[in-house]
Amino acid sequence: MSELITINDLKIHYPIRSGFFNLVTDHVYAVDGVDFTIEKGKTYGLVGESGSGKSTTGKAIVGLEKVTSGSIIYDGEDITKAATRKKMNYNKDVQMIFQDSMSSLNPKKRVLDIIAEPLRNFERLSDQEEKKRVKELLDIVGMPEDALYKYPHEFSGGQRQRLGVARAVASNPKLIVADEPVSALDLSVQAQVLNFMKRIQEEYKLSYLFISHDLGVVKHMCDNIAIMYKGRFVEMGTREDIYTDPQHIYTKRLLSAIPQIDVRNRDAHKAQRRAVEKEYQLHQKDYYDENGRVYDLVDHTPTHKVALNNGGVN
Ligand SMILES: Nc1ncnc2c1ncn2[C@@H]1O[C@H](COP(=O)(O)OP(=O)(O)O)[C@@H](O)[C@H]1O
Ligand SMILES: [Mg+2]
Repeated sequence: MSELITINDLKIHYPIRSGFFNLVTDHVYAVDGVDFTIEKGKTYGLVGESGSGKSTTGKAIVGLEKVTSGSIIYDGEDITKAATRKKMNYNKDVQMIFQDSMSSLNPKKRVLDIIAEPLRNFERLSDQEEKKRVKELLDIVGMPEDALYKYPHEFSGGQRQRLGVARAVASNPKLIVADEPVSALDLSVQAQVLNFMKRIQEEYKLSYLFISHDLGVVKHMCDNIAIMYKGRFVEMGTREDIYTDPQHIYTKRLLSAIPQIDVRNRDAHKAQRRAVEKEYQLHQKDYYDENGRVYDLVDHTPTHKVALNNGGVN
């Protein structure tokens, strides 16, 4: 295994202020002690329901969120400090794609300027060279050349996400954090964007941190997956570990929530879903401590960790 970036005991707590003096009275534990490693050329999936801390984790990795404690080690350096990121040219190596390309792509700029922006920040190209490079980038996400002089609103949601991918790839990064990149798209368009992302990964030997609330979406993208709940990981493992041998009740619930397209299995799926829900109602307390907090992860197999009480003896 060849690691690209390692996240150690990452915590991001937001202060909650209240009262007349606007004092800090409590904290939101948005991310509360997560550890994981993204390998070179691989895709790491971060999955959990809304509010579990996925975006906060992703933003910390690209340097958009101030970290409360913990470290993020890239090329031997802790990039949680802005000065270190600057010194390393970290922003060239790590890029982000957002769910909502309508608001993440500047509506007043032409596609040429949007995609060229990272190039202008990090490389000195002539106008000619720049245009050539942007055309290449459009081509790898399956967009025609005449997109160059258009504006984001002239494209469909799926096309805009592809433009977002092209911009993220422009600086030739090592890692792209993709935060729900296809969640706003129709199923058929989702598949198309994911295929482009996969192809680009192979071509550029990229790593992805792929964030989603839907275990169905990440299945064909991810090599490794962590399941997040209330700022903590309830389970992590290879794709096979998570899909064929889920251990935590929360993971099982997410799996049973994947929409079933095949009508022949619908009844079986419904029964399965009811069984998981029943187990959850009966045994929920075994999976969280008295404050509802997720336990620390313990080894289930060499590749598979689960957050269980009693060091996994249950
Ligand atoms: N700037 C902020 N200030 C206070 N709380 C925040 C802020 N950003 C996110 N949160 C809270 O942190 C938690 C995690 O949010 P987020 O990382 O966006 O979750 P997800 O991406 O999994 O939906 C949520 O409870 C959210 O309300
Ligand atoms: Mg989010």
